[in-house]
Amino acid sequence: MSRKILVTSALPYANGAIHLGHLVEYIQTDIWVRFQKMRGHQCWYVCADDTHGTPVMLRAQAEGITPETLIERVHGEHTRDFAGFHVGFDNYYTTHSEETRACANEIYARLKAAGLIETRIVEQYYDPLKQMFLPDRYIKGECPKCGASDQYGDNCESCGSAYTANELKNPYSVVSGAKPELRQSEHFFFRLSDRRCQGFLRRWTQGEGRLQNEAANKLQEWLGEVGENKLTDWDISREAPYFGFEIPDAPGKYFYVWLDAPIGYMGAFMNLCHREGLDFDEYWGADSSAELYHFIGKDILYFHALFWPAELQHAGYRTPSKVFAHGFLTVDGAKMSKSRGTFITAESYLAQGLDPEWLRYYYAAKLSSSMEDIDLNLDDFIARVNADLVGKFVNIASRAAGFISRRFAGQLCTCDESLPAIQASRDRRALIADHYEAREFSKAIREIMALTDLANQYVDSVKPWELARQPDREHELQAACSNALNLFRLLAILLKPVLPALAAKAEGFLNVAPFVWEDGGSVLAAGHAINAYQHLLTRVDKKQVDRLVEANRESLGAPPPPAPQHHAEQQEKAAAVAVAQAAVGAGGGPHISIDQFLTIDLRIARIAEATPVEGADKLIRLLLDVGPLGSRQVFAGIKAAYEPSALVGRLTVMVANLAPRKMKFGMSEGMVLAASDADGQAPGIFLLSADAGAEAGMRVK
Ligand code: MSP
Ligand code: ZN
Repeated sequence: MSRKILVTSALPYANGAIHLGHLVEYIQTDIWVRFQKMRGHQCWYVCADDTHGTPVMLRAQAEGITPETLIERVHGEHTRDFAGFHVGFDNYYTTHSEETRACANEIYARLKAAGLIETRIVEQYYDPLKQMFLPDRYIKGECPKCGASDQYGDNCESCGSAYTANELKNPYSVVSGAKPELRQSEHFFFRLSDRRCQGFLRRWTQGEGRLQNEAANKLQEWLGEVGENKLTDWDISREAPYFGFEIPDAPGKYFYVWLDAPIGYMGAFMNLCHREGLDFDEYWGADSSAELYHFIGKDILYFHALFWPAELQHAGYRTPSKVFAHGFLTVDGAKMSKSRGTFITAESYLAQGLDPEWLRYYYAAKLSSSMEDIDLNLDDFIARVNADLVGKFVNIASRAAGFISRRFAGQLCTCDESLPAIQASRDRRALIADHYEAREFSKAIREIMALTDLANQYVDSVKPWELARQPDREHELQAACSNALNLFRLLAILLKPVLPALAAKAEGFLNVAPFVWEDGGSVLAAGHAINAYQHLLTRVDKKQVDRLVEANRESLGAPPPPAPQHHAEQQEKAAAVAVAQAAVGAGGGPHISIDQFLTIDLRIARIAEATPVEGADKLIRLLLDVGPLGSRQVFAGIKAAYEPSALVGRLTVMVANLAPRKMKFGMSEGMVLAASDADGQAPGIFLLSADAGAEAGMRVK
């Protein structure tokens, strides 16, 4: 019977690139979805960019563009990366859509009507310079427990203790460097602590196969014993400025990004419904009989197994059939690391010319239904792909197809269905299907590779290459190669969810319609004509992998020494003088060597923001976009010569490796270059600029 299935992967944040860690999830989900589709089920796979929130807002500001422009660009990048790895979404949408907004408003209205929304006054840190409330990760200070400096607002990386931002000593805003103030504002809460939510979640969690055991145990821990009320209400609103959906009837208040993110699943599907003529309610209505599965990483279980089902239930929608959580990717046994070059982006993998199906195969060979982390061991990756895919699997076809094309005009003869290898692949199909269904991909791969070994044993026993040298054994040669190609075909069908591009090439040269799972129950008829063999897959070369790691390695210089604390006036003056000093001409002092000169990291910077600094009449605060180096805040003593707004968008030159200094007005993270006379005053100050074509981040030397 054909099932109706809706599948999602978590929505990647729109402020970062897709990397190999993300791909564990999208490849896992894609394999499962492709399997369901091959089985003939009506299965839809939707996803979207998770676009809202403070990081996107600030990054757009730093780049001097609107958040809409930023998320559109990233959407293009993500779409390209996923397509590059053959992740076949039926719709890859965005949470910043009218569909998602409509669903969010509807859910909010229904929860409110059910008495599950409440307002409360919340006291929170506020950045008086940037004029915004600060999420914990945008506040740093000294750890209240061990005194370590530069610790985030929620936990200390030095001693490991957790605390609230209010406990930090000498807090400062990461955004502007300003000292944050505590301010009150009204927030909206989803009343997760309500007895209805507790009761519902206890029942829901127990649902058959709803959650993996490890996940169910976590939920049990979060819910506590019956009668215990461990769940706390959830703050679902944020104050302007915020990039998100404004809450209806609450001007200046926005839905917190995590409220509308899962609703983005609905929005993406609703958009698909419009395109495909599907019935939204058939999948999301309270009495829906369709299956709904969310693939997620273990880090976001709380959102998907507590908030989300509770919201859906009390807003009158269906709840997820199952939530499938997976573990995290490690590379060579350790967390992905930029300095080691193992924080590998999807884009760089493809750009270095590595085959996406190598990774799909390797992940499949490692994935199970558990929440355990999976390791990408680079040597093992090379060995396994070369041995299994190239050495064993592709080899069967390349050896047999040539003879059939050259000697028999492409025609196959009868396949011997009594061969143990053919029979085994028939016998094992159901078991392999069960493994796919249960997301036990490593088990499926193990079975398929055992069948591949049998197929190779057959080919080795009949030795087509020897038959080919004996003119009187033409028929035996045709039979051996026909059997081999049939074996290859059966294996390609079983591997198609994992290797869709390779399967498409196989369909092409075997001259058959796209494989469906049922095709594995039969063989190609005698007389079937194949097309010329086409190259299927190359070996992984260790050099390619080395280059990939090299390309992702970020050299992180030694951290700059902590900046001394200056008086504000001194700082203002220092900034003005710095501008002047940078302008001292040639011949103004003793010679330096080229090496000395090269210690200064001069970069092209684009001025993303320019604002006056309150209480400092010579300074302009500049936010510089330095391309791959990110964005930097500097205070330039150029106010006498420039109107801040006239600077936005222009290119200039900055010293990028000047030790950062904490000023009264915020962190100063470099210096821009300008020409002037010796004392930095009359007749003027002239900011350097670059000829057209220079790009932010380029080195100047
Ligand atoms: N935007 C949220 C999800 C909202 S869903 C309504 C988010 N985004 S994310 O970009 O950080 O992560 C997207 C998915 O990729 C998550 O399921 C996350 O667990 C997964 N992974 C991100 N890094 C990962 C690894 N290193 N390893 C495996 N999965 C990882 O969370
Ligand atoms: Zn500490």
